[in-house]
Amino acid sequence: MMAAQAPVLELNDGNKIPVVALGTGRGTAAGAAIDEVRHAVYQAIKAGYRHIDTAAIYQDEPQVGQGIADAIAEGLVKREDLFVTTKLWSDKHAQDEVVPALRESLGRLGLDYVDLYLIHFPIALKADGSASDIDYVETWRGMEEAKKQGLAKSIGVSNFNSAQIDRLISNSQIKPAVNQIEVNPSLTQEPLVSHCQELGIAVMAYSPFGFLVTRKVNTSPPPRIDDPSLVAMGKKYGKSTGQIVLRYLIDRGLIIIPKSANEQRIAENIDLFDFSLTKEEIATIGQFNKNIRVIEPIRWKDYPNYPFEK
Ligand SMILES: NC(=O)c1ccc[n+]([C@@H]2O[C@H](COP(=O)([O-])OP(=O)(O)OC[C@H]3O[C@@H](n4cnc5c(N)ncnc54)[C@H](OP(=O)(O)O)[C@@H]3O)[C@@H](O)[C@H]2O)c1
Repeated sequence: MMAAQAPVLELNDGNKIPVVALGTGRGTAAGAAIDEVRHAVYQAIKAGYRHIDTAAIYQDEPQVGQGIADAIAEGLVKREDLFVTTKLWSDKHAQDEVVPALRESLGRLGLDYVDLYLIHFPIALKADGSASDIDYVETWRGMEEAKKQGLAKSIGVSNFNSAQIDRLISNSQIKPAVNQIEVNPSLTQEPLVSHCQELGIAVMAYSPFGFLVTRKVNTSPPPRIDDPSLVAMGKKYGKSTGQIVLRYLIDRGLIIIPKSANEQRIAENIDLFDFSLTKEEIATIGQFNKNIRVIEPIRWKDYPNYPFEK
C-alpha cells in the first residue's frame, strides 16, 4: 500500500494539525511489550502518519520518542514534519506544576517542544489519587505559560464538557485550540462537537471505533464489525467497516486518533482520503448513538469537575 497523507486543519492559533493521529494509549502501560509502541510509531510514520497522540499517564512517551527518532534517523521525516500531542496528568494541576510536568514529558520523548499539550481531564487528583480541589482555570494559567515559553506550540483540553469549555474561555487569555473527547457511533456527541466547532475549537475524537471490535462484546451497544449497514457502505466504496467508521468522523470535521499496533491496520486507518460518505450515510451512522461511553471513569464521579453524566 502506498503511504497515505492526511490533510491538515488550521487551529484557532494558526498552527496546522493533521486530521489523523496514531493513538498509543491502550495496552501500553508498564509491562506491555517493550517495543510495541516504538514499532507502531515508526510504522505509522512510514505509512504516512504525521501526528502521534500520547500522554504522560500512558507511560509510553519514551517509546513514542524512540519510534520518532528511528523514523528521523532513517530520513523518513524531519521533526518539523511531525505533530506530537501529549497530555498533562491530573496530579499535576497546580499552576506551577504544569511547565515542569511538560519538561518531564519532553525529556521522556526526547523532544524540545510538543505541537499540542492538553489538560487530560478537568478533574484534579492528589498524588494518592484522591480528589483535589484545584480549579482547571488555574491549571490553564500553567498551560498558557507553556505556550508562551514555546514548549508547546498549541494548547488545549481533553474530556471537557460544554459548560467547562465556556467557563475556561471566559476566564482565560488564550482560547483552547482543541478539545479531545470520545466520539464514535455509540457516542456521537453532536451537541458538544457543534459547541466546540462554533467556538473555533477543533475536536479530536478518541476511541473512534467505539465498541466495533473489542471490549465487552456481549454487553456493549452496536454496531459491530459485521454490522450489515456498515458492511454495505464498505462494499460500495471498497473499504473496511473500520474505515467507514473513521471516514464518518472525518466527514464530521473531526481529527481521529485510531490506535493500532498492527502494521496492516495502521496503514488501513489512514487510507481514507479517496472517498467520502453521503449526508444520508452520515445520518445512518448517527442513528447508532446510545450515549454510551467506552471510557467512563466512574471512580471519580463524586470528584469536583467530573465532566460526564452521572
Ligand atoms: N483523552 C483521553 O482521555 C483518551 C481516552 C482514550 C483514548 N485516547 C486516545 O485515543 C486513542 C484511541 O482510542 P482507543 O485506543 O481507546 O480505541 P480505538 O482506537 O477506538 O480502538 C483500538 C482497538 O481497535 C483495534 N483496531 C485498530 N484498527 C482497526 C481496524 N482497522 N479494524 C479493526 N480493529 C482495529 C486495535 O487493535 P490492534 O492494535 O490489534 O489493531 C485496538 O484493539 C488512544 O490510543 C489514545 O491515544 C484518549
